Amino acid sequence: MRRPTAGRGTSRTAPDAIARALEEAVDRGRLAPSVHNTQPWTFVLFPDRVELRADRTRQLTVLDPHGRELVLSIGAALLNVRAALAARRFAVDVARLPSPDDPDLLAVVRPVEGPPEAGLAPLDRVAHRRHTNRRPFEPATVPDQVIDLLVDVAAAEYALLVPMRDPAQSSLVAELTQEADRLQAADPAYRAELEHWISRPPAQGDGVPASSVPRTPRTRRDAVPLRDFDVRGTGGLPSHTGSGTEQTMVLVATPHDEPLDWLRSGEALERLLLELTRRDWVAGPLTQALEVPTTRERLRRLTAPAHPQMLMRIGRAALAEPTGRRPRRTVVVNSTRPTPSAPGTPAQEPPAPPPPEPRHRPVSDGRGGTAWL
Ligand SMILES: Cc1cc2nc3c(=O)[nH]c(=O)nc-3n(C[C@H](O)[C@H](O)[C@H](O)COP(=O)(O)O)c2cc1C
Repeated sequence: MRRPTAGRGTSRTAPDAIARALEEAVDRGRLAPSVHNTQPWTFVLFPDRVELRADRTRQLTVLDPHGRELVLSIGAALLNVRAALAARRFAVDVARLPSPDDPDLLAVVRPVEGPPEAGLAPLDRVAHRRHTNRRPFEPATVPDQVIDLLVDVAAAEYALLVPMRDPAQSSLVAELTQEADRLQAADPAYRAELEHWISRPPAQGDGVPASSVPRTPRTRRDAVPLRDFDVRGTGGLPSHTGSGTEQTMVLVATPHDEPLDWLRSGEALERLLLELTRRDWVAGPLTQALEVPTTRERLRRLTAPAHPQMLMRIGRAALAEPTGRRPRRTVVVNSTRPTPSAPGTPAQEPPAPPPPEPRHRPVSDGRGGTAWL
């Protein structure tokens, strides 16, 4: 079945249905992962489209001076918006970085006539269940058939997924992560920036709370150390993380290293994370080695000629807690939804319930998965 048009050509959909879908889609966008939970985005609603804009005031100027991880985070939000519209049976026209004069306009998403994007609707139903997991991973590794599926999922988002299948690859990742972690920890400016994002007042609804990071032991023994967010010794998760060279790790890479590639990497990252969530796998980014130029360059040996954009570990673990989200009114512009006026609005508003199961027929998406048409 075709979703009626929105915004272009002859419209058979009531404008309020489009507006409602866009309002719901930005709520899914808000659930996306972001570096240090900075949520560096603004969603600007129009009757026929939504714009995703970068909020540069939230850029990590020490860790991320070029804004690569900021753009990547907004790419993750963009994937959630696309999935939400697919689940509501809208096709979309996505313009990425449409305006060279306005580099903070990262994407414009417009519902249009046609079939929804294949394979995305089921992901919308798990967007609220995806959380970065820093709990101890079980020793089990991810089977090859799941990895093969992830390779295809990344390819659908114009990214390359490189699994660390060989011990030499995992050893290099471990060595470079340790080195980058050491260099970052020795930089007072890096530490000050980190401190800022782990000590945010709860009402701000951003930053990384102590409850979602491991307690850092006096002597760190993990071969692939997670980022040390436990600056104050109050980390709420066990210090043992199981982050060794035997765990499953994958790199996401892109042919070039421009803002468009960063945006696409974020879309690929979130699509991978949601596909994993659907299958009860958990994951966590480990990006220190991608943030120090010298270690990133050496990591490129594993993806060359492509450029590495993201490293993550995948496994099985107890569920992670959700982190906060900025109040809706501070990130969504032109919303027609009434905003709560009472003080003390909770920072983590409950996500809208998933849309009803589609009543259309399931078809193969050509990559071993199922799409609903
Ligand atoms: C570009 C990017 C880089 C990240 N790097 C790390 C990292 O190095 N270590 C880590 O533990 N989490 C990392 N994260 C996860 C964020 O900290 C996490 O998404 C954020 O705190 C929000 O939590 P949630 O993913 O559970 O919603 C990264 C996320 C993104 C998008």
